[in-house]
Amino acid sequence: MALDPALLARAVALLRAGELVALPTETVYGLGADAANPAAVAKIFAAKGRPADHPLIVHLPGSAWLDRWAADIPQAAWDLAEMFWPGPLTLILKKQPWVPEAVTGGQDTVGLRVPGHPLALELLKAFADAGTPGGIAAPSANRFGRVSPTRAAHVAEELGGQVPLILDGGPCQVGIESTILDLSRGQPELLRPGYFSPQRLAEVLGEMPGVRPGQGAPRVPGALESHYAPITPVRLIAPPRLLDFLTLQRHAGNRCGVLAYDQPAQAGMPHPWRLLPADPAGYARDLYDALREFDHLGLELIVVEAPPPDPGWNAVQDRLRRAAVST
Ligand code: TXA
Ligand code: MG
Repeated sequence: MALDPALLARAVALLRAGELVALPTETVYGLGADAANPAAVAKIFAAKGRPADHPLIVHLPGSAWLDRWAADIPQAAWDLAEMFWPGPLTLILKKQPWVPEAVTGGQDTVGLRVPGHPLALELLKAFADAGTPGGIAAPSANRFGRVSPTRAAHVAEELGGQVPLILDGGPCQVGIESTILDLSRGQPELLRPGYFSPQRLAEVLGEMPGVRPGQGAPRVPGALESHYAPITPVRLIAPPRLLDFLTLQRHAGNRCGVLAYDQPAQAGMPHPWRLLPADPAGYARDLYDALREFDHLGLELIVVEAPPPDPGWNAVQDRLRRAAVST
């Protein structure tokens, strides 16, 4: 997959002019701006309706750009970059003094990652070749607190009027946001679970990362309880209780959508039913698309067949728990 040259040139020109460009990554679509331009970064916060003290992830074309943005880089960061970049891992490192506060939420650290999507990499390389420091700041391209977009159409439906260009790179293959690892404080700490499990990271780190859940900590919006929430309320139901629960809901006159991974739709059940893949990677890839689809149906409730309490499902469990705290 490659970008049409005219489109690529337009995307780079928009970024250089301080405008927003939505771009595909392998995790979710991002709402991108020139990370070295505070006025451009301010447009991200305005479009998302996101509080301005929340730090953004800066996307880079390759690890060769790492020391342009980060300082005091520990060996572990280079090792992880070598192993997992391009890919769904964000590293929190001490920032170089020049990195704008608008990007870091006023902190002395910066979140960096090299995304694994070919269009994102093409854009990042062209942007760097245009003489910039090569960083595109990009949070997930959704309104603050809502489900992240995994297709270009999701971005258009949510932010269409506010983004001059949305690059379409097809459906995202990972489907949930990157793993975030903080390497700025000595002991590595996991801030957000994702595609790469703590065990995978430990193979490179030589130790298991600590976990800093940061529940409610304003500096890590992904750690706010009700993040990633659809508008329709979500309930997680253990598999053995699923059918009884649905019967009760039906008798109460509640229209439910069902997100299952194990139990197929039953004959005679009136509920919209989506059977997601029964493996965590496949489930993660389709989850946000399914939540969005159900959100459009005007349901009273989205009922989720709770996935197994297995470590391989941790990142999915994390996103489902947050979706279920919707207000
Ligand atoms: O997969 C992803 O990471 C996607 C794609 C677009 O790359 N991006 C994404 O961005 O999920 P966003 O802004 O929705 O979430 C970024 C997370 C937030 O929880 C933010 O607080 C955290 O990264 N973060 C960024 N910089 C940080 C820093 N310096 N210290 C601590 N947390 C940071
Ligand atoms: Mg987000």
